[in-house]
Amino acid sequence: MQASSDTVTALRARLERAEREAAAHQRQLERYAADLRESYRRERARAQQLRRSYKATVRALSNAVEARDAYTGKHAERVAAYGLAIARAAGIDVADEPQLEFGFLLHDIGKVGVPDAILFKPAALNADEFSCIASHAEIGSQILRHVDFLDEATLIVRHHHERWDGSGYPDRLKGEQIPLAARVFAVADALDALTTDRPYRDAVAWDQARAEIRKGSGSQFDPSVVAAYDTIGDDTFERLSDGVRGSAGR
Ligand SMILES: [Fe+2]
Repeated sequence: MQASSDTVTALRARLERAEREAAAHQRQLERYAADLRESYRRERARAQQLRRSYKATVRALSNAVEARDAYTGKHAERVAAYGLAIARAAGIDVADEPQLEFGFLLHDIGKVGVPDAILFKPAALNADEFSCIASHAEIGSQILRHVDFLDEATLIVRHHHERWDGSGYPDRLKGEQIPLAARVFAVADALDALTTDRPYRDAVAWDQARAEIRKGSGSQFDPSVVAAYDTIGDDTFERLSDGVRGSAGR
């Protein structure tokens, strides 16, 4: 009888020890989980801060390019806003693709390599002058080629003048050979060019711009991107344009 009571006592003691150990393990696991959550929170905050710094740097570069051309004003910011809206409509998760906005903002950075006399020439360009201006796509991608965080944005910079039918530049890419972001950019760029005054012509209304862009579907533009653009109302683009104007000087 005594023997079996000793066994029960020993078993109970072992059980209690096991329970204490399990509770200690659980507390340790909870501490690990809390540490992990804290590291994740800190990493996230750091990543967000880094992303804000990247964006501020890209904006500064983009503004430096645009400061030279008083006429186009906030062209890059408007194109970026239109482009992101069209990209969203085309099913691209723009929150996960910061490169998209960076590429849109920096598309014309290569114009720093084009002399003023050619860039702002009011008369028609001869073939040499045109090829000098056209070189801005390649110059831009060269300027950015060693900036790691602009990896994919550089593709937009290089290919923003390619055309769906293969008659664009610099690489005469055709159809889906052209990076999707550059195809989205082409529509956004045309929309801004058409709806703002330029030295050689006045701005047209939003609905006229839409008619022009539809005309270019399948030749200049990717038809699926034009279809995505067509799901967005003119009022949205007008609001985006006003938003960019409103943010000027802030
Ligand atoms: Fe350009």
